[in-house]
Amino acid sequence: MLSKLVERIPDWGIEKTTYLMCGPEGMMKNVDTLLAARSIPKEKIFKESFVQGTIDKAEKKEEPASDGEVKAREVTIRYDGEEYKIMVEPGKAILETALDQGIDLPYSCQSGLCTACRGKALSGKVKLDEEEGLSQSERDEGYVLTCVGHPMTDDVVIEIG
Ligand code: FES
Repeated sequence: MLSKLVERIPDWGIEKTTYLMCGPEGMMKNVDTLLAARSIPKEKIFKESFVQGTIDKAEKKEEPASDGEVKAREVTIRYDGEEYKIMVEPGKAILETALDQGIDLPYSCQSGLCTACRGKALSGKVKLDEEEGLSQSERDEGYVLTCVGHPMTDDVVIEIG
């Protein structure tokens, strides 16, 4: 059905065409696959993702630390002209730790989809539980999402805004 729908889109040339996706996750993955098979450049594809509810924080805290998260790590956050240093415990996200310490950082979905919490990692390594909110070029440039980001090294510096 998707193939038939895509064939009905008038051919104005790729430079004048933008693909916008919004719908259930499975459908969006199918559309992604279809557009990739048609060699549609990633920068021409935009997605609007929604999630049902939020992650249960109590449940999340009981999860075992993921690979590489073995100890609390210091993270430096630069935001709005201020610099904050926080210790992020294994299994806790950078944003969650900052908010617990009263640091007022931007956020919305807290699920790695809206990018309201996006920052640029100037140094160090950050692992994301969810990468769907960032484009490949943003990831290549070092952008991270603090709501689903975990420091993997002790020298993480993130600039927000
Ligand atoms: S708050 Fe939405 S992606 Fe982080």
